[in-house]
Amino acid sequence: MSEEPCALKRTHLCGKLNRTNVGETVVLMGWVHRRRDLGGLIFIELRDRSGIVQVVFNPEINDDDTFRLANKLRSEYVVAIKGRVEARPEENINPELPTGEIEISGLEMKILDSAKTTPFQIKDETDVSEEVRLKYRYLDLRRPKMQAILGLRHRVTKITRDYLDEMGFWEIETPILTKSTPEGARDYLVPSRVNPGCFYALPQSPQIFKQLLMVAGIERYFQIARCFRDEDLRANRQPEFTQIDIEMSFITREDIFQLVDGLMRRLFNLIDVELPAEIPVMTYAEAMDRFGSDKPDLRFGMELKDISEAVKDSEFKVFSATINGGGQVKGINFKGGADTPRRTIDGYVDYVKEFGAKGLAWMSLKDGEIKSQIAKFLSSEEIENIIRLMEGEEGDLLLFVADKPAVVADALGNLRLKIAREAGLIPEDTYKFLWVVDFPMFEYDEEEGRFVAVHHPFTAPLDEDIELLETAPEKMRSKAYDLVLNGEELGGGSIRINNRELQEKVFTALGIGEEEAREKFGFMLEAFEYGTPPHGGIAFGLDRLIMILSGSNSIRDVIAFPKTQKATSLLDNAPSPVSEKQLRELGIKLI
Ligand code: AMO
Ligand code: AMP
Repeated sequence: MSEEPCALKRTHLCGKLNRTNVGETVVLMGWVHRRRDLGGLIFIELRDRSGIVQVVFNPEINDDDTFRLANKLRSEYVVAIKGRVEARPEENINPELPTGEIEISGLEMKILDSAKTTPFQIKDETDVSEEVRLKYRYLDLRRPKMQAILGLRHRVTKITRDYLDEMGFWEIETPILTKSTPEGARDYLVPSRVNPGCFYALPQSPQIFKQLLMVAGIERYFQIARCFRDEDLRANRQPEFTQIDIEMSFITREDIFQLVDGLMRRLFNLIDVELPAEIPVMTYAEAMDRFGSDKPDLRFGMELKDISEAVKDSEFKVFSATINGGGQVKGINFKGGADTPRRTIDGYVDYVKEFGAKGLAWMSLKDGEIKSQIAKFLSSEEIENIIRLMEGEEGDLLLFVADKPAVVADALGNLRLKIAREAGLIPEDTYKFLWVVDFPMFEYDEEEGRFVAVHHPFTAPLDEDIELLETAPEKMRSKAYDLVLNGEELGGGSIRINNRELQEKVFTALGIGEEEAREKFGFMLEAFEYGTPPHGGIAFGLDRLIMILSGSNSIRDVIAFPKTQKATSLLDNAPSPVSEKQLRELGIKLI
């Protein structure tokens, strides 16, 4: 290896070369993806961000030094190679490789850096554990698949910025060291050294600041915003994640829908998916009734059907007593599921119990007969009516839950998804968008013993429901909306309250007293006294959007440096203990 600086200057990218370059002399730089010795020739697959190209070193063409150097190459060495682009003979064309019609006849080479043997091979198909991938994330990100996701993510934010710019939005940064924001999760706190005993909260979203920007007359704001939420992590959640955050003044819900429609059209064009002429709109009540979920997956049927009418007077007390006690009985029809083994059905029974159901009744329609553990308690008329309401046919499996509506929805809504996934009922490459609207304004929090905001406390109620504020807050609906795609909540927002009196009443309904409101949001309430435009907005989970656009199963695959399910980073070992000195400076004592 010579020590003098590399005289070679990169002229082309590996993955961009094709037939049209044949005959050209090029200089490439990148990593040795693979090295093979075949019949005295050395074949190098050279990889850079743009792709892979094959380089051949031939002792009959190369001088001894160059050939000896080529012999030294190992996987992941970084090299500069000068060579001539040549067409491959017909029989050597590699249709798997975009550059498979050509290869580079190596003329000159320089090793820019050597590399240790990597803990796993750099290739798309890998069975190495995720722990190892996260520890060596910089190697994991060398895999072409991961680079393609980061490239897509870049395109998505770029298109978003361009689109919103065209629509008159300004990108404005809001603080990361803030006071607690009103989203429902736990805050991450940051101690203040100069103000001992005081803490900043990392923003769960820029909610308050974007509304203040509306008071400030900005009219159209957006931000690709980092948000922090200390919550129990599930498959599609991260403690720090990114939102496409939007707020606008002098608008209605329909203006937001139109804006988002245009954005989604451009983004899904990236994967050649065309949206329907209009994204359908469904109320929360209808979504819960038909799908048992506020984010229904519309890629398949199996809707929930109410059979209460058919069994309200039944001898089967599990059903009739539930209905008489204010509950309901609903079922789903697993078409063609009559052959489901008993063991699997027992698994369904255990599964619905996770959602609070006391049991699961079933009925299979097979060979002209009805098999069911509850048939003996039901009259033939009841059975007939149930089958009619469930649109049951030969070969179907009907599954029922009797309970309070919320439990029925949760249990059957989730069972519907489980069965569809396991039975392969969900079509691939199908994209079903849906706006869910008219969410309840409040929900009762049993633990806290008070109402909490379903969206957040600045969300406006539907005009016709304002009168319920003091009498029946649980019946109030809000001007909140969610954009749902394939059963995933992509984004949510609302039209905000822009009237101080109404805002105070909502705080009261939430059990937030005048003093608490002033302490928590006083600056915002004060701002609202100086002329607040009607406004509203929305925020999209950028990570979830990228998951769907890239077909990834894990949110961690679309974030360059993600956290584990336990909110740790295996790369840099965050979080970690800090020194006594640091704690002392912050006036913090660990218990
Ligand atoms: P919301 O809390 O519904 O609304 O959040 C908006 C979107 O952010 C995404 N999201 C997450 N993604 C990954 N990990 C998480 N932990 C996580 N939590 C939320 C979801 C969700 O739809 N300020 C309001 C918006 C508004 O009213 O304008 C807000 O943050 O895709
Ligand atoms: P039991 O009388 O409790 O033994 O219940 C008889 C059958 O009805 C059992 O197979 C239970 O799984 C089913 N079952 C019990 N409770 C419910 C319920 N709340 N909803 C649906 N099915 C139930």
